[in-house]
Amino acid sequence: VPQKNQSVNGFFSALGVVPADVPRERPMYRHLVGLVERGLSSGVLRQGGRLPPERDLARACRVSRTTVVAAYRELEAKGLVRGYVGRGTFVSAAPEPETAPFAWRGKVSTSALQMSDSTVRHLVRMAWDPNVVSFAAGQPALDRFPTDAFRAAVDRVLTRHAAVAWHNGPTEGLAPCRDAIASRFGGAADQILVVSGAQQGLDLLARCLIDPGDTAIVDRPTYLGAMHSFRGAGARLVGWDIRRADIDELEELMLRYRPKLVYLNPTFQNPTGQTLSIRVRRDVLRLAERYRVPIIEDETSRELHLDEPAPPSLFSLDERRTVVIHLNTFSKTLAPGLRVGWVAAARPIVEQLSLLKQRVDLHAQNLAQLVIAEFLETGTFDRHLVKLRDEHRKRRDAMVEMLRRHTSASQVRFATPAGGLYFWCQLSGQARARVVQELAEREGLAVMPGDPFYPDGGGTQELRVCFTTQAPDRIAAAGPALGRAIADAYRTPGAAPRIPMS
Ligand SMILES: Cc1ncc(COP(=O)(O)O)c(C=O)c1O
Repeated sequence: VPQKNQSVNGFFSALGVVPADVPRERPMYRHLVGLVERGLSSGVLRQGGRLPPERDLARACRVSRTTVVAAYRELEAKGLVRGYVGRGTFVSAAPEPETAPFAWRGKVSTSALQMSDSTVRHLVRMAWDPNVVSFAAGQPALDRFPTDAFRAAVDRVLTRHAAVAWHNGPTEGLAPCRDAIASRFGGAADQILVVSGAQQGLDLLARCLIDPGDTAIVDRPTYLGAMHSFRGAGARLVGWDIRRADIDELEELMLRYRPKLVYLNPTFQNPTGQTLSIRVRRDVLRLAERYRVPIIEDETSRELHLDEPAPPSLFSLDERRTVVIHLNTFSKTLAPGLRVGWVAAARPIVEQLSLLKQRVDLHAQNLAQLVIAEFLETGTFDRHLVKLRDEHRKRRDAMVEMLRRHTSASQVRFATPAGGLYFWCQLSGQARARVVQELAEREGLAVMPGDPFYPDGGGTQELRVCFTTQAPDRIAAAGPALGRAIADAYRTPGAAPRIPMS
């Protein structure tokens, strides 16, 4: 948690000492070093926090400024703080173990140090843990991946196009892949940029559109990875309540904050599962055009409808390609391990994004692009989707059954999702989602608490439960443990929440 503008008084009171307590023996700077080191080990001085200005600390301790400079230099040499001309000295790390050969943390840039949330990595790790039944990470039924068809397509691609597969490719993506995406999902091929997963698309869009200090409006709650990318580019995030989806509220936010962009998941939203109606979509588009604010629509769950298909995308409604940037991926329909997604947008934006992408990874992987192009052209993709939806429907129904059987309706409320990957459960009364998460983890179950999905606080009584990753029998088998975790959370209302940091 960055502490801004650490005053001398704040610094000493956080450390629980007064300047007069600092020993007067020489060399004085050593005492200052020790003081900061103790603050770091006890956690009262945190990563990203600013130490008091040299002059102020010198005055308070009645020592020369040179003494403070010597202390800060020593701390810097140990990799514990880092000084920036004109900005001050910042805590860069907790002390490294004595045995560490080099203080790498001290070399890490300030912007990288701001990235301390490891929730996503934690989720992925849990999904791999054989001792954990994970309802936390959002993946499709990967055990239904069309492996045989994929193997046969790889064979064909390598027989016919080995040179294309192994050479460097164009940053925008291979022509067959862009063509196939455009004809299956809409847009023109030259409005498509193939990216290494939608997350990369978000990061490129953030770098492309946001200057530090800009405001971005995001649906609230929203996809965690989008917040990371926007914040990483220096954006201030303002939430638009997606459950109310009140268009007047969105207009007020646009007027008040003059945002640089609006980010929405309009279809089977991550995390709530909610879908915006056609009326709201049209209204959003009208506002975006009126106030000239780009909309990034993240439609990564669009194809995962279990009942009716979703209303048309904002991108397809924006026929003149004025304001909407569409983001999509094969992670939720085929497999996240392929790392292939795409951005569809007006040509100048695709061009700018390609220039940014070439700095990151040159291009998305050719072999995966070629196989995906073949899957789209031959109808293999659509045949797979039919089977995937059937399986997801069974898993959704199993989850409804499990939640009804093992949780009480007065404690857990949920709407049955019409698609996507998640149940969004509301806890009533005193129970906290972080406590449920903790208790469930002790039983070998992973669920996601709601608070990381909020840009501005909230979600402490909400749980995201992914219904697609586990087979119906495993969902049913997890019922008693999840039921116990929830019931016990009502008995331990004050339990300290634990942040899932690695
Ligand atoms: C809404 C949303 N956008 C983007 C992504 C990132 O997808 P990809 O695996 O393609 O990077 C996810 C993945 O969880 C998501 O849920």
